[in-house]
Amino acid sequence: MTEQAARWRVLIVNGPNLNLLGRRETGIYGQRGLEWIESSCRERAAMLGAEVACFQSNHEGELVERIQQAMGQTDLIIINPAAYTHTSVAIRDALLAVGVPVIEVHISNIHKREPFRRHSYVSDIAEGVIAGLGVEGYLLALEGGIRRLDAAERQ
Ligand code: DQA
Repeated sequence: MTEQAARWRVLIVNGPNLNLLGRRETGIYGQRGLEWIESSCRERAAMLGAEVACFQSNHEGELVERIQQAMGQTDLIIINPAAYTHTSVAIRDALLAVGVPVIEVHISNIHKREPFRRHSYVSDIAEGVIAGLGVEGYLLALEGGIRRLDAAERQ
């Protein structure tokens, strides 16, 4: 497929410990690293007419700051807040503040694990949630999110 000029700007945000993907609890999170996610998303986005910026941090405040920077600069945020999913009102508030559509991704099925992982501070403000489909979930979020942006533009 030939690359189109970027029509959409997508920010992919990953929270704590996701820098260790591929080495961390591989029975749950798989063998692929964050580099695979980021490069696959960049490649797929280019085919779909979008450009991707990627950010990972182990620090809540840095995640909040990066989300804030997306205000007026980004059409879609794909976020795996990792452990902050279950604890962070600050990340929820930052997402609400920037007013950009959000898709929440989890590599594992958080509903199949410990009870404390079942609650997310992001799910009810997200356009969609993907959980349990492994690292491919990021690509599905990208495709679904861009399809929605295209559809909204046509209306
Ligand atoms: C995770 C699930 C979280 O509960 C956990 O704290 C993570 C990763 C996932 O992608 O499955 O770090 O968000």
